[in-house]
Amino acid sequence: ESKLSNSHLLEGKRVIVTAGGTRESIDPVRYISNNSSGKMGYAIADAAINAGADVTLISAPSKLTANDKARLISVNSSEDMENAIKDNFYQSDILIMAAAVSDYKPVSYSDQKIKKNDDNLFIKLSRTSDILKEIAKIKSDQFVVGFAAETQNLIENAKSKLQHKNLDMLVANDVSGDKVGFNSDNNKVYFIDNNGIISQTGIESKQKISNDLIKLISERIDK
Ligand code: CTP
Ligand code: CA
Repeated sequence: ESKLSNSHLLEGKRVIVTAGGTRESIDPVRYISNNSSGKMGYAIADAAINAGADVTLISAPSKLTANDKARLISVNSSEDMENAIKDNFYQSDILIMAAAVSDYKPVSYSDQKIKKNDDNLFIKLSRTSDILKEIAKIKSDQFVVGFAAETQNLIENAKSKLQHKNLDMLVANDVSGDKVGFNSDNNKVYFIDNNGIISQTGIESKQKISNDLIKLISERIDK
């Protein structure tokens, strides 16, 4: 239903959607990652395609199959994802950053598989670059949407992310429970822009939330 009503909303728009959880390698067989399934980003890619957009899906590892109408760029690490976004950002109208990007990566990569030795192993981590913050520096008139995954002070934290990452819209979701959010088929979100909370959803499918998001974006961009 909303699929039909959304058709043409993003006709001719070039949209980058990121999805999945990045992997930061420790050694040839190990990495640091997170519970992201990619479901939210893949659903957004579908919704944007149904709305007539030309979609580039930049995906960290996910078990899902990408929409065959999307241009799929598969990446592993946060650094790979940042490079892929930068390669495509200038020729895009909208960036929707649904990926769960690792905040830290190992300071050094071991070329050889790490052998078990001592009782404790310490892996030193350093911050990854904040992709959205880097993108904000090169942004012209692209419409940029971020996600905020929070377990506490949802609205407060989300609003501050919207501001300091210079976003046009933010989708805030509470990831403390297991009924919604990471890995779930459903989500419950607040849509926020620089005027404040736009709307709050109930527990809805990621398809429905994606269609709502596409509609809200289309109302806020120049046609
Ligand atoms: N993000 C990013 N680059 C990172 C980390 C996150 O671009 N290195 C993006 C995510 O894709 C998301 C938004 O920033 O769209 C918010 O991610 P989130 O993890 O909620 O916030 P952080 O800024 O990483 O802060 P924290 O995890 O400490 O809450
Ligand atoms: Ca984070």
